Amino acid sequence: MADGLGVAVIGAGMAGRAHAAAYRTRRHCTTPVLPPVRLVSIGDVNAEFSSLAARRFGYERNDTSWQAIAAADDIDVVSVVIANSLHREVVEGLLAAGKHVLCEKPLSDTLDDARGMADAAHTATSIARVGFTYRRTPGIAYIRDLVRSGELGKVLHFSGRYWTDYACSPTAPMSWRFKGNPGSGALADVGSHLAYVAEFLCGQTLSVSGGRLSTAITQRPLPLGHVMGHDHVAVSDEYEAVENDDYAAFSAEFENGVGGLEVSRVAAGHANSLIFEVFCENGAARFDQRRPAEIELFLSSGNTTENGYRQVILGPGHPYLSGGLAMDAPSVGFGQNDAFGYQARAFLEEVAGIDEVSSLPRCATFDEGVHNMQLLAAVAQSAASGGSAVAIPSRTVLSNGMVSA
Ligand SMILES: NC(=O)c1ccc[n+]([C@@H]2O[C@H](COP(=O)([O-])OP(=O)(O)OC[C@H]3O[C@@H](n4cnc5c(N)ncnc54)[C@H](O)[C@@H]3O)[C@@H](O)[C@H]2O)c1
Repeated sequence: MADGLGVAVIGAGMAGRAHAAAYRTRRHCTTPVLPPVRLVSIGDVNAEFSSLAARRFGYERNDTSWQAIAAADDIDVVSVVIANSLHREVVEGLLAAGKHVLCEKPLSDTLDDARGMADAAHTATSIARVGFTYRRTPGIAYIRDLVRSGELGKVLHFSGRYWTDYACSPTAPMSWRFKGNPGSGALADVGSHLAYVAEFLCGQTLSVSGGRLSTAITQRPLPLGHVMGHDHVAVSDEYEAVENDDYAAFSAEFENGVGGLEVSRVAAGHANSLIFEVFCENGAARFDQRRPAEIELFLSSGNTTENGYRQVILGPGHPYLSGGLAMDAPSVGFGQNDAFGYQARAFLEEVAGIDEVSSLPRCATFDEGVHNMQLLAAVAQSAASGGSAVAIPSRTVLSNGMVSA
C-alpha cells in the first residue's frame, strides 16, 4: 500500500460493474480524501467480459483467474462479485494471500460454507466485509437515525417487500440463480437484502414463522448464450428444472417489534422494488427504492387534524451525501449505483484506517453474513415444517454497530 491502494474486482457481471464503477468514482468523489486508489484489474473467467469492463471503467488490466489476482503484489483490495456458490473458494484464497475482501451478499450458498468463510475471516490479517449495499442507502440510514434518536422512537411493526420480475417470463433462461437448495432463490437473492434492512432498523430477529417458499415456474429453457445478471438471451428448446424459490414470505419477531416480509422474482412490473414501511412509537416512515432520493415521514406529534405522511427530499444534511457526491447540493437526486459508491468509500476508508465520518456502522462483517444466512435457513426450515416458528441464534452487536460471533 506504499503508493496507495490497488483495487481489483472479480466478476464483470451485473453487480461487478457496479463495484468497478464505485471504486472509480469514490477515489476522487468523497471527503475526507482517500489515499491514492489504483484501479488495477477486473477478473472474470470470460476474458471478453473482463477486458471490456477493464477498458470501460479504466482499470490497468484484466485477468481470467482469481489466483492471478491473489498472487498480484500491486493489488490490496478485492471485491468478489460472482455466483454465491463460488464465493468461498475465492474469498478464502484471497484472504490467505493477505487481500482485503468485500464479498457480495449472500455470503455463500450454504450455511456451512458461510461459517467456513467467517472462520477464515477471524484468522485473516486483512479485512473481510459483506456487501449489504442497502446499509449504505442514505434514506434507510436516515430512518435508522430517526429511530435511534427517539424522533420516531422504538419500532413496533415492520412491513417490507422486495419484489423483482426478472423471472416472471417462462422463457427467462436458466442461470446460476435458479440452482441450489430451497431458500437459495428469491429468498437468498433479494430476501437477504430485505432481512438485513429489517434488522438494521428493528434489531435482531428472535424467531421467524409462517415460512412459505414457492416455485411458480418449475423449469426453464437453457440459454444459447451467456446470461449476465437478469438478462434475457435466446434460448434452446431444452429445459432444466428450477431448484429453488420464485417467491418467499415469512413473519419475524424482532428485538423491537414484529414484521412481515415478502420477496419475489416473478412480480411483473417490479424490476427492483424494495419497499418498506416501519411503524414506531412516535410515527412511521416509508422507503421505496424506486425513489431513493426521498423518504416519507409521519410524526404523530403536531396538529392532528392536518397531520399525515410528508415527503422528505434527501440532501447534504442526510447520511453519506455531504462530501459524497460531486455536486452535494439539495435535491440533485441519486440512485442505487451511488449506494455502491458509499459502500466502496466505507470499505476503502476502513482499509486505509480513516475514521468513519458518520456515526453509522461500516460495511457488514462476515459474522453478520453468517447471521443473515442463519435467518434465511430458518425461513426455509419454517417453510419445510408447514410454517412453524424457528428461533434464530443470538448474536452480539458491538457499540460501533459491528456484529461479533
Ligand atoms: N448488492 C447488490 O445489490 C447485488 C446486486 C446484484 C447481484 N449481487 C450479488 O453479486 C454476485 C454476482 O451477481 P451478478 O448478478 O453480478 O452475476 P452475473 O451472473 O451477472 O455475473 C457473474 C460473473 O462472474 C463470472 N464468473 C463466473 N465464474 C467465475 C470465476 N470462477 N472467477 C471469476 N469470474 C467468474 C461470470 O463470467 C460473470 O461475468 C452475487 O453474489 C449476487 O448475489 C448483489
